[in-house]
Amino acid sequence: MSNPNPRTWNATTLVLTAALMVAVAWIAYPHIRAIVIPPEITAAARGRALAAELGCFTCHGELGRNGVTNPGSRYKTVPPFHEGTIMMFAKSDQELREYILDGAPAAKLANDAYRKEMREQALRMPAYRDFVDERDVDDLVAFLRASSELLYPPDGPAADGEELAHELGCFTCHGAMGSGGVANPGSLKGYIPGFYGPDYAELVRGDEELRSWIYNGGIKRLADDPLASYFLERQRVQMPAYGGFLSDRQIGDLVAYVKWVSIESWREMPLQ
Ligand code: HEC
Ligand code: HEC
Repeated sequence: MSNPNPRTWNATTLVLTAALMVAVAWIAYPHIRAIVIPPEITAAARGRALAAELGCFTCHGELGRNGVTNPGSRYKTVPPFHEGTIMMFAKSDQELREYILDGAPAAKLANDAYRKEMREQALRMPAYRDFVDERDVDDLVAFLRASSELLYPPDGPAADGEELAHELGCFTCHGAMGSGGVANPGSLKGYIPGFYGPDYAELVRGDEELRSWIYNGGIKRLADDPLASYFLERQRVQMPAYGGFLSDRQIGDLVAYVKWVSIESWREMPLQ
């Protein structure tokens, strides 16, 4: 057997190495992407992922929207996290933390009648104290606050926009209260961005662009950019163009609402 021709050998090695590098890069893409362009996941979006891991949704239903039947409970089901239900049970962020850490607020646990009532129902809220750290609790509380539907703008266009956003399902893609983080294969960052934080600041520069996102499902600045438009076309879930379906006033209300969320004044709002 003769030795392989060194030149062919080199060429083959080169092609194989290149193919291997492409394959590795392809598989490692999400990891490399996370290093080169770190995801701007919000606390609420982290909390949502954590709630799934901790099994919160097994009882409170998918995304905490539909508690399962709870025999023996006067409420008949495990309470959900939305439509203001949370505030029927917890009076403050501190009490939300106590629900997560100890299964109920300290004030309730001190009450014999409450403890008896809890013992007599099939499903009980577990205490997660040994399974979460401080940051986990912060993230879960951020998710509960966003899901509660209790943080909304004062009456006016922005409040009308919030109602419309619920009706149109903006939050199923953009996360509770636009907290972002829903997966979107093929997109630059791998998820649908939210209505606040660095991703938003990058994608929405001013009211005109905000209006165009909602009206046209995109903006000129990104459509004109070859790299951005590659990802925009490639991503599996696209922003719908609502222009043809809504009145100018409704678009204006949505703009006012998203703008209110982006300013983040709700951060300081107590839940009640
Ligand atoms: C085994 C079922 C179960 C699991 C798992 C569970 N819960 Fe609960 N949770 C309950 C029940 C039952 C109540 C009602 C307690 C009461 O009546 O005071 C409750 C109440 C709550 C409340 C106050 C009421 C509301 O819905 O707003 C919060 C907040 C809450 N849970 C958060 C969580 C979080 C966060 C997790 C995961 C870390 C979790 N729960 C996991 C059963 C569960
Ligand atoms: C089917 C999923 C889906 C629905 C429903 C949806 N969007 Fe979007 N939205 C997207 C995607 C995907 C993008 C593009 C993100 C990108 O290019 O990185 C986007 C982009 C946006 C942006 C600009 C980027 C950012 O940071 O948020 C705004 C603002 C926006 N949407 C508002 C809304 C509003 C308001 C509604 C409801 C009327 C809505 N969206 C409904 C998927 C959705």
